[in-house]
Amino acid sequence: MQIMTENKKTSLTGIKPTNLPHIGNYLGAIRPALRMAGEYKTLYFIADYHALTSIHDAAKMRQHVHDVAASWLACGLDPNETILFRQSDIPEVFELAWVFACLFNVGHLERSHAYKDAIAKGAEANVGLFNYPLLMAADIVLYGTDEVPVGKDQQQHIEIARDVATRLNHRFGEGTVVVPKARITEAPLVPGTDGQKMSKSLGNTIPLFDPPKRLRKAVMGIKTSSEDLEAPKEPKGSTVFELYQLIASPGDTDVLAEKLRAGGYGWGHAKGDLYEALEAEIAPMREKFEDLRNEADVLDDILDSGAAKARVIANRTMRRVRDAIGISPARHGGKKTVRIK
Ligand code: ADP
Ligand code: TRP
Repeated sequence: MQIMTENKKTSLTGIKPTNLPHIGNYLGAIRPALRMAGEYKTLYFIADYHALTSIHDAAKMRQHVHDVAASWLACGLDPNETILFRQSDIPEVFELAWVFACLFNVGHLERSHAYKDAIAKGAEANVGLFNYPLLMAADIVLYGTDEVPVGKDQQQHIEIARDVATRLNHRFGEGTVVVPKARITEAPLVPGTDGQKMSKSLGNTIPLFDPPKRLRKAVMGIKTSSEDLEAPKEPKGSTVFELYQLIASPGDTDVLAEKLRAGGYGWGHAKGDLYEALEAEIAPMREKFEDLRNEADVLDDILDSGAAKARVIANRTMRRVRDAIGISPARHGGKKTVRIK
């Protein structure tokens, strides 16, 4: 009889410890990723070495790593079911990133949207930022990932991971590594308070774990059109309604749409509804987050035990890759067998 877990596909995603998560991260990545637990074998990690492309402050880095770990746990990650770990605990990721760097042309990386956008916004053009997609490809491929739940902004990065994994297989043997694919989530582009994509760098975020007063203030600050209170309003296309749809039940969403279309219901009222719906979902998580974020030892224990499990998978992949590329002694007549002590 086959063991079920062995048939499960692998889902993996990472979040950079650059700040506290916002509603876009939650709806676009964290919540959909957590919903995959059970059906998939899940590995979720804190991309601390990716954050080093922009965070050059040790105390901030440490705090953000704990904050992201606490966020995953507060949002419902069960460490007995999902492997939660720090990217930096598995240094094999750099080895694989180097292998990929030797298979990928500079020109492809120069065309990366994320790199071009970051430079356009004034980010320092460090080599880490340039190599970012290859480290991300290694993050994904190292753990035999089938699907990567992410927002739409990460789609090009996943394409690069697919591309480089396919090249490795073509060049060194089909089946050496798993070729991953993106799973663009049900909330691919959560709008921010100004209607553009919610993003830390645009200053238009609704923070996930801020106290209720600040949450309300951010919601009340969402830009809307300026019809009279009495005027019938089209819900579709408005940021308030789009966010409400992602958080409220389908029934409640229909009710709000009807009220807006009927007239006599202002955007201020709709924002009140959105705040209530957000608060109902977030309040229990916020409490958990506040309890957890300063429990450094508890968080480190969870991350250490996640790393131990992740390492086993990473080593398996690297043995196959080293054998395939010829960076290993050809023992046993060149057979792909490696002795472990
Ligand atoms: P930011 O763009 O604010 O810097 P990150 O790059 O840290 O956020 O994103 C972490 C995860 O959250 C990624 O999977 C990303 O695709 C997702 N994400 C971020 N912003 C949004 C958004 N507005 N809508 C949907 N998903 C998002
Ligand atoms: N680049 C992702 C972001 O900015 C973070 C990340 C790093 C990631 N490695 C990953 C996401 C691997 C998915 C899979 O949000």
